[in-house]
Amino acid sequence: MKSQLTLEEKYDFYERSVQNAEGEVSFMHDEFKRFYGHSPFTLREDFCGTGAISCAWVQQDKSCEAYGVDLDPEPIRMGLQRHYSKLSKTEQKRMQYLQKNVLTVKTGPVEVICAFNFSYFIFKSRKQMLQYFKAVRKSLKKQGVFFLDIFAGPESQRLVTDVKKLKNLTYYWECQHFNPFTHECTFAIHFKDSKGKKHNNVFTYNWRFWTMPEIRDILIEAGFSKTVVYWEGDDDEGNGNGVFTPAEDAENCDAWVSYIAALT
Ligand SMILES: C[S@@+](CC[C@H](N)C(=O)[O-])C[C@H]1O[C@@H](n2cnc3c(N)ncnc32)[C@H](O)[C@@H]1O
Repeated sequence: MKSQLTLEEKYDFYERSVQNAEGEVSFMHDEFKRFYGHSPFTLREDFCGTGAISCAWVQQDKSCEAYGVDLDPEPIRMGLQRHYSKLSKTEQKRMQYLQKNVLTVKTGPVEVICAFNFSYFIFKSRKQMLQYFKAVRKSLKKQGVFFLDIFAGPESQRLVTDVKKLKNLTYYWECQHFNPFTHECTFAIHFKDSKGKKHNNVFTYNWRFWTMPEIRDILIEAGFSKTVVYWEGDDDEGNGNGVFTPAEDAENCDAWVSYIAALT
């Protein structure tokens, strides 16, 4: 059955549950600066959805420019309403939504490209992933960084539902199918609203569950010089504390999310 959420609720619930646009912008800014000694100004946000990150990016500095790339007109329309409309006129001039395929989109060279919330898992063959990473590499300036996120851990491949309670909202992340031979998988997002009504399958994803070493190998094959992995620290209760630092080994906890930076 189709969800009864309005489009406004659908994207509001999504962004409150899984996005932290300002946090991701400052993470990418700080890490780029650490690598190259100066701030980046140009961003391409692949699989941008509502383009929350691109809109936060152009608010950093009057020299910052961003492109948000997504195939689907629906999140772009919602992004124009939710984020772009709140930018100043000069910020709006520096942010552009492109309703295009990330495999073929053309922009001038940029310093930073990001692909978050595991969206690149949509590419199921190695050949296609390599094609995408090569296209990203080609679109970056001489000093550039491609930021991705990735998740795994034994629990994340089991048919379980992770539940997160937020203010007036419950978020569910369900693994509905996982093929151990091909790693093809289906994940779904459900919500329970403030009135206690559950909305199932508001977002569904049919992906290949890629592993960290596979992704790092393909990035190098695509021409990146090195990759840096960021592992999340623990809080007092052993949960993630939201602070990501470079690492090359860690305890394989039940489920984890980390970032990868691929340098030109
Ligand atoms: C999981 S959502 C991610 C939204 C946002 N990046 C985030 O972090 O929450 C994936 C988005 O990728 C878009 N998408 C899927 N394949 C694409 C492609 N080949 N080119 C551009 N966008 C694509 C979908 O339309 C969808 O909006």
